[in-house]
Amino acid sequence: MLATEELSVTYGNILALGGVSLRIEEREIVSVIGPNGAGKSSLLNAIAGVVPVASGSIEFEGQTIAGTAPEELVRLGISLVPEGRHIFGGLTVAENIRIGAVARRDRNAIDGDVERVLAMFPVLRERLRQPAGKLSGGEQQMLAIGRALLARPRLLLIDEPSLGLAPLVVSEVYRAIADLRAEGVTILIVEQSATRALEAADRTYVLASGSIVMAGDAAELRAEEGFEDAYFGYKARDP
Ligand SMILES: Nc1ncnc2c1ncn2[C@@H]1O[C@H](COP(=O)(O)OP(=O)(O)OP(=O)(O)O)[C@@H](O)[C@H]1O
Ligand SMILES: [Mg+2]
Repeated sequence: MLATEELSVTYGNILALGGVSLRIEEREIVSVIGPNGAGKSSLLNAIAGVVPVASGSIEFEGQTIAGTAPEELVRLGISLVPEGRHIFGGLTVAENIRIGAVARRDRNAIDGDVERVLAMFPVLRERLRQPAGKLSGGEQQMLAIGRALLARPRLLLIDEPSLGLAPLVVSEVYRAIADLRAEGVTILIVEQSATRALEAADRTYVLASGSIVMAGDAAELRAEEGFEDAYFGYKARDP
């Protein structure tokens, strides 16, 4: 469904991503783990068209998409849940959810999709009329995912879904991610915290200093020499 070839991202003379090649099949959950500054957000943002590609290519369903505007990528079926969630704190929960539908033309199907999001995250239903800024971190993460779903993505990119959340809330977010895959959505997750991202995914790439250093499923990675060091290195940063 998605393939990057030698994808690089730079900020001025900083090389954030140095030639990353990865692929995601339809209906897969793939995760990318790596420490602070590894280039995880740069990777997702480049796929979503939010930061420019310095070199290399990105193909989505056989079509070259590097250089395509973010709104157009949303129309093609790629939605990003950004790091830090980017909730509009002064708007209500309901308004925030509907912002995800701005690029859609089928206005009459939107109410049904809002209903699906509320069924997936019932806690949001109780808060519909409240300012989103008053939500807890976990509720804001659910809102950010719900908003992205209003674009009816076929590929959902999620940046650090578990950051700053209590373990129980992380479980709830990952349950929703599993439900989405069951509904046919393909998902790419990036996380600093390796444990969940490894368990939840079919396959995982390990990113360090802008390059992929290992790849495989959870069992394969655990068997790799050096992985446990890196793995527990990441784990030590878990809250
Ligand atoms: N807008 C920017 N301008 C300059 N440098 C940047 C910018 N964004 C990221 N970088 C640098 O690019 C590198 C990769 O950053 P990126 O945010 O992609 O890493 P990350 O893996 O998402 O890190 P984190 O786990 O902290 O979110 C880092 O060295 C970072 O300092
Ligand atoms: Mg990041």
